[in-house]
Amino acid sequence: MSTVPNIDLNDGARIPQLGFGVYQIDPDETAAAVKTALDIGYRHIDTAEMYGNEAGVGQGIRDAGLARGDVFITSKLNNGFHEPDAARKAFDETLSKLGFDAPEDDYVDLFLIHWPLPTKYGGDFVSTWKALEGFKADGRARSIGVSNFQVPHLERLAAETDTVPAVNQIEVHPYFVNEAVRAYGAQHGIVTEAWSPIAQGQVLDDQVVEGIAKATGKSPAQVVLRWHIQRGDVIFPKSVTPQRIQDNFDIFDFELSPDDVDALTELDKGADGRTGPNPDTFDMIPD
Ligand SMILES: NC(=O)c1ccc[n+]([C@@H]2O[C@H](COP(=O)([O-])OP(=O)(O)OC[C@H]3O[C@@H](n4cnc5c(N)ncnc54)[C@H](OP(=O)(O)O)[C@@H]3O)[C@@H](O)[C@H]2O)c1
Repeated sequence: MSTVPNIDLNDGARIPQLGFGVYQIDPDETAAAVKTALDIGYRHIDTAEMYGNEAGVGQGIRDAGLARGDVFITSKLNNGFHEPDAARKAFDETLSKLGFDAPEDDYVDLFLIHWPLPTKYGGDFVSTWKALEGFKADGRARSIGVSNFQVPHLERLAAETDTVPAVNQIEVHPYFVNEAVRAYGAQHGIVTEAWSPIAQGQVLDDQVVEGIAKATGKSPAQVVLRWHIQRGDVIFPKSVTPQRIQDNFDIFDFELSPDDVDALTELDKGADGRTGPNPDTFDMIPD
């Protein structure tokens, strides 16, 4: 079985570098997909209030016969709940949906502000962050972080609050390397989590990726996931296909050369390479 490294967070906690993402997994299929991943050996699940499948995550862990403490769980605050009272209520619901009722199990390992929404709430994500500081203080979120924060958003938190985010979960893959935000994180002790690590499949038929796959005897997805691992980012590829879930886990028995890592990094297309929205303008509040 592969051994997944742990990465140290700035608050003393540790996070498995490889996890399983459940964005766009049907709520009714989430428990089965999560159980498949856990049976293979994953011990880190990335969900969000917005995905509507937190209950399936908790169920999948119980179905796999694992204890709450065996699995690192991340969830994220939905965009409609940035006001502190709403954030507190939403966080209570996250814990309730995960369904670990014993007081010692009633926590998330990591809770994030999903999007900064700088054009909403009068641009105030600072009071939202202070609500998350409360979740950490009362022990129900072991670590807190942000997602899709740009450098000015991180600078504002640094200037106006006491807690440096443990992670910033941002879009990163070979077509969008997002280097300035990663570099800020590296300089300030914020671990980068790379979402859509294979660009939802879009990078897999790239000739450079295919060439390295052929030379290493690995699949294109394994090559790209390995690139992230060697760059030190945390990843959680999503799949509902059992063989792919297995393949995405089997990335610790080979190494890319520095030239291969560089060749993949050079595929960057800048902002044109994004698969998701630009955090500076994204303002979607779900119904
Ligand atoms: N914070 C944010 O704003 C944000 C945004 C997006 C994503 N995320 C997180 O990041 C996770 C991963 O991102 P993502 O789900 O957008 O995209 P992704 O993991 O880059 O790609 C998932 C897609 O690739 C396919 N796939 C997976 N493994 C494959 C393999 N080995 N070979 C070929 N195809 C493969 C999947 O298909 P099948 O499922 O059909 O197998 C699915 O269509 C999410 O689940 C979520 O946890 C966070």
